[in-house]
Amino acid sequence: MAQVKLIVSNWKMNLNFVQAKVLVEKLKKIKSKDSSIINIICPQFLLLPLVSNLIKESKLILGAQDCHYYTHGAFTGDTSIELIKKIGCKYIIAGHSERRQYHFETDKIIRQKVDMILFERLKPIICVGESANDRKNKNYLNILKQQLKQCVPSDLDEIIIAYEPVWSIGSGLIPKVEEIKEVKDFINKFIKNSKNIEKVTFLYGGSVSSQNLGEIFKYSQVDGALIGGSSLKIEEMNKILTLG
Ligand code: PGA
Repeated sequence: MAQVKLIVSNWKMNLNFVQAKVLVEKLKKIKSKDSSIINIICPQFLLLPLVSNLIKESKLILGAQDCHYYTHGAFTGDTSIELIKKIGCKYIIAGHSERRQYHFETDKIIRQKVDMILFERLKPIICVGESANDRKNKNYLNILKQQLKQCVPSDLDEIIIAYEPVWSIGSGLIPKVEEIKEVKDFINKFIKNSKNIEKVTFLYGGSVSSQNLGEIFKYSQVDGALIGGSSLKIEEMNKILTLG
C-alpha cells in the first residue's frame, strides 16, 4: 500500500462564502489516483460551518488555522477549541509563522496550544521554520531545534511537523530537495531521540505548487505538504491531488 500523504490546504484569510462553496464542490469531484491521500482543508473561522456542511459524506477533512490555549474565558476576539471541535475540525495548525509574526506568538504560547489540541484529542500540525538570515548564516538547524524543543511535547505515539522556511512562504522560492531532506532527517532524529515520539509525519510548506511537489515527494520523501496560495486554485489542486 502506498504511504499515506497529508495534503493540507491553508486558505489563510481568503475566499468569501460563494468562492469557498465553489472551490469545495470542485474539490469533492477530484478523484485522487492515490487513495492514501488525506485531503485536509483549513478555512478561516467564519467559513468553518459552511465548509463543514459541504464536505459531509465526502472524503475531505476539516482543519482550523489556529485555536486558543484555553477552552473559554475573557479572551476577546479569540476562538475556543471547544467550538472548533464541535464544528467538525480534526486537525489544527499551530505556530504558523504568520501567527508568530503578526500575533507575536512565542514557542511557549504555541506549546500551550499544542497541549490543548492534544488534550481535546485533535491533531496539531506544528509549524517550524527558519528565517532567510538563519539560512544564510547556516544557523537554521539550531533555530529548528529550539522551536522543536519548546513546541513539541514528549512521549506521544506520533506528531505532525510542518517545515515551512519563512523565506519560502508566498515567495515562490523553495529550498533544494536535498535541503528539505536534510531538515526532514534532522527533525525525525531529534524528535525520536529527545522527545520519545515514535512516528513523525513530516510536511513541507512554502510556495508548494503542482510544478515542484512531485520532485519534493520523490527526492525529499516528505509525508505531505502544507499549501497556501496554490490551495486556492482548483487547477493546481487538481494536479496536486492526482500526482502520479
Ligand atoms: P504558500 O503558503 O504555499 O502560499 O507559500 C504556505 C503556508 O503559509 O502555509
